[in-house]
Amino acid sequence: MTDAEPILVTGAAGFIGFHVTRRLLERGRSVIGLDNLDPYYDVRLKEARLKQLAGFSSFGFERLDIADRAAMAALFSARRFSVVVHLAAQAGVRHSLVDPHAYVDANVAGFLNVLEGCRRQHCRHLVYASSSSVYGANTETPFRTSQPADHPLSLYGATKRANELMAHAYAHLFAVPATGLRFFTVYGPWGRPDMAMWLFTAAVFEGRPVQLFNHGRMRRDFTYIDDAVEAVLRILDRAPPGDPQWSGEGPDPAGSRAPWRLYNVGNGRCSPAMSRKPAPTSRSSSASSASVRTRRSRRGSAASWHGTGTTKK
Ligand SMILES: NC(=O)c1ccc[n+]([C@@H]2O[C@H](COP(=O)([O-])OP(=O)(O)OC[C@H]3O[C@@H](n4cnc5c(N)ncnc54)[C@H](O)[C@@H]3O)[C@@H](O)[C@H]2O)c1
Repeated sequence: MTDAEPILVTGAAGFIGFHVTRRLLERGRSVIGLDNLDPYYDVRLKEARLKQLAGFSSFGFERLDIADRAAMAALFSARRFSVVVHLAAQAGVRHSLVDPHAYVDANVAGFLNVLEGCRRQHCRHLVYASSSSVYGANTETPFRTSQPADHPLSLYGATKRANELMAHAYAHLFAVPATGLRFFTVYGPWGRPDMAMWLFTAAVFEGRPVQLFNHGRMRRDFTYIDDAVEAVLRILDRAPPGDPQWSGEGPDPAGSRAPWRLYNVGNGRCSPAMSRKPAPTSRSSSASSASVRTRRSRRGSAASWHGTGTTKK
């Protein structure tokens, strides 16, 4: 990779994309961010993230829909990218029950356009976001990439698994080196307003009950954003070479003869989504006066999502 060619980061106005882009820019890399500023959540948050990135002279931005085939082909023929970090997607498990077409447009058709761009450019490495949601109905925890992931419980999970399989086909057919990162519940500053941390905090500050699903018995492998970013940056310059020892007899689901790899990105610990402690006697903070409402499970969500992490040294 030459530092002269920029890195393309799709979803740069999003939560993880913003942090990845900022870290790359701080390290002196030049980045082209791409995003369509999708209104799935408050666009002002995305604009505020972009405003921060715009302060770096080595940052450029393309407002594009990855599902727009012609625009994506034009972008990849106009510019060369050293590496492509693909984080743009229609995210969120629950919303995929409401608007399934948005997931197929962005996550399947859009992903194909990214793969095609990488194929045409002989891209040196495509790093893309998958998700712990691919583990779906698996119950053996911690989830490992050595387990099959063939029973998704949401269309979102199915599109992320489809990305992994599509990337494998392109790695095999066109030698596009591709690494899929299965992120486990990423949280931190500038986070997503549809995710538990934000929703709990907003409920506490607004004096509303915190809603806990599965009667409060949800467990998650929470990943701090800096660890997720570190995983992306460490893998960027390490395109998978393909494993000549890999065999189709009893195959390792995370590897291949083709230049293709899958990793879990989590912290390797499974924490309760919320611990319920007795109310403190002094009401010194907003959190101490929070009330909790428990509900049954929601479709598409497993009670426990916990993986073997790769972010630790
Ligand atoms: N945050 C997590 O806990 C988590 C967990 C697992 C996987 N992921 C995956 O990581 C990636 C980043 O997630 P995030 O939390 O930053 O989500 P996010 O929604 O904050 O970021 C995604 C960005 O992609 C953009 N986008 C959506 N559709 C697009 C399209 N058609 N064209 C161009 N841009 C488009 C959105 O505007 C948004 O800015 C996603 O692929 C997501 O599925 C995230």
